[in-house]
Amino acid sequence: MSEIRVLAPHNIDEAAAVLRDGGLLGLPTETVYGLAANAEDEAAVARIYQVKGRPSGHPVIVHIGSVESLNDWATAIPEFAMKLAHAFWPGPMTLVLPRTSRAKDFITGGQNTVGIRIPNHPVALDVLQTFGGGVAAPSANQFGAVSPTSALHVLADLGSRLDPQTDAIIDGGDSQVGIESTIIDCTSGTPRILRSGAITQQHLEEVTGLSVTAPDDSIKAPGTLASHYAPSAQVILLNENDDIETEIKKLKSQLHIGFIALERIRTPYGALRLAMPQDAKHYASELYAALREADNQNLEYVVAVAPTGVDIAHAVRDRLTRAAHS
Ligand code: TXA
Ligand code: MG
Repeated sequence: MSEIRVLAPHNIDEAAAVLRDGGLLGLPTETVYGLAANAEDEAAVARIYQVKGRPSGHPVIVHIGSVESLNDWATAIPEFAMKLAHAFWPGPMTLVLPRTSRAKDFITGGQNTVGIRIPNHPVALDVLQTFGGGVAAPSANQFGAVSPTSALHVLADLGSRLDPQTDAIIDGGDSQVGIESTIIDCTSGTPRILRSGAITQQHLEEVTGLSVTAPDDSIKAPGTLASHYAPSAQVILLNENDDIETEIKKLKSQLHIGFIALERIRTPYGALRLAMPQDAKHYASELYAALREADNQNLEYVVAVAPTGVDIAHAVRDRLTRAAHS
């Protein structure tokens, strides 16, 4: 059995050729790694779903290499969306806009809107600009699992499902932001955040001068919050003012517990420290590798103390809440 090719970051031409020839490419971005295909190639996009085990009908984000290509994919773009594009692209932000005929049903899940992003990663930008067209790319993990933030994560998750003849992964180092892009619905009069991320409600309000609708991050009733971003270990989400030792004593097993919290919160007795980030931004960049490490170590539980705040901490709490939802 031949191995899947892992390209070095300078092998841009080879990576672009994978897309041109209808293959799948593990693509580094500043948020998480994507599983990329030519967004106009229906068969290649169908393989993304197959490899990820993703239910059909979920729309995928189209990645482009410059703002000039935006009109190829989206139309009726409101002024506030152009302000956001110029302020935050390339960057960890996806805009949902009315689609052009280029964005086919197999990209949009049959909706009349399309999600567009220009990633801020040198390898991704070079690949996109060399390839020239739009690139469909969901996160390169199995559906519902933790997103990958390194080429090795992609290899571990999807390596055996990719085709060495046609597919490859290009290594761009660790993803610096570490959690997925902020998704903003731009199809009504004001921006509406569909998924939180590094670009926050405050950033959007500053740039647009509009009031921005943010998603509700309160713990929702069971069943309304799909489990996502989840490792095999059970994630227990705590707040800073919880009594951590007491909460841990309530768990069925006191062995095999991983712990994630800001540096200043001390590791409870017997737990394995998986990350000790200095602040919420650092927390975001380390979170997914820490959740993966819990599974590598066969831990039964991950106790995570959520960071507080309205910056990227908001998005970290969102991901932890979903990871903790069984
Ligand atoms: O940071 C990111 O956004 C990464 C990197 C690879 O760019 N991509 C990513 O893709 O997270 P994915 O497919 O794992 O998550 C994209 C989300 C999905 O929940 C999808 O439903 C939503 O974006 N989405 C895409 N197009 C949409 C649309 N037209 N309307 C509403 N939601 C959309
Ligand atoms: Mg995903």
